[in-house]
Amino acid sequence: MRIACLAFAALAPTLACAAGEVEEGRKLVAEHRCESCHQAKTLGDASAVYLRKDRKVTSMAKLKAQVALCNSELNLGLFPEEEDHVVDFLDATYYRFSAK
Ligand code: HEC
Repeated sequence: MRIACLAFAALAPTLACAAGEVEEGRKLVAEHRCESCHQAKTLGDASAVYLRKDRKVTSMAKLKAQVALCNSELNLGLFPEEEDHVVDFLDATYYRFSAK
């Protein structure tokens, strides 16, 4: 994975590396059932907690902090690297901080 990432990095710097992590993050969010709990809270669809008007997360730093909080508070057992993947996935899918 890393080697492919480096090889592609020369051609398409951001795309090559980010894509793998976003996909990894998507799987982690599904595996850890993040959405089922958020859904119970918002009574909306799976993405409602991230897109609600009064959302907590308004910057990349806050996104990282919130993922870490949900992870440790709830004992989900994500490794720091996995937290990063989840952050990449949520950013690419909902928040788009790095796209601005
Ligand atoms: C047992 C319930 C539960 C689980 C499981 C859970 N969360 Fe949460 N999460 C919450 C609650 C409750 C909030 C809302 C907190 C608030 O409004 O203060 C929240 C909020 C968030 C937010 C901020 C949304 C916003 O912009 O306001 C993010 C990001 C988030 N969770 C990520 C995750 C991720 C990633 C996972 C899985 C690895 C996860 N959560 C698992 C309960 C949970």
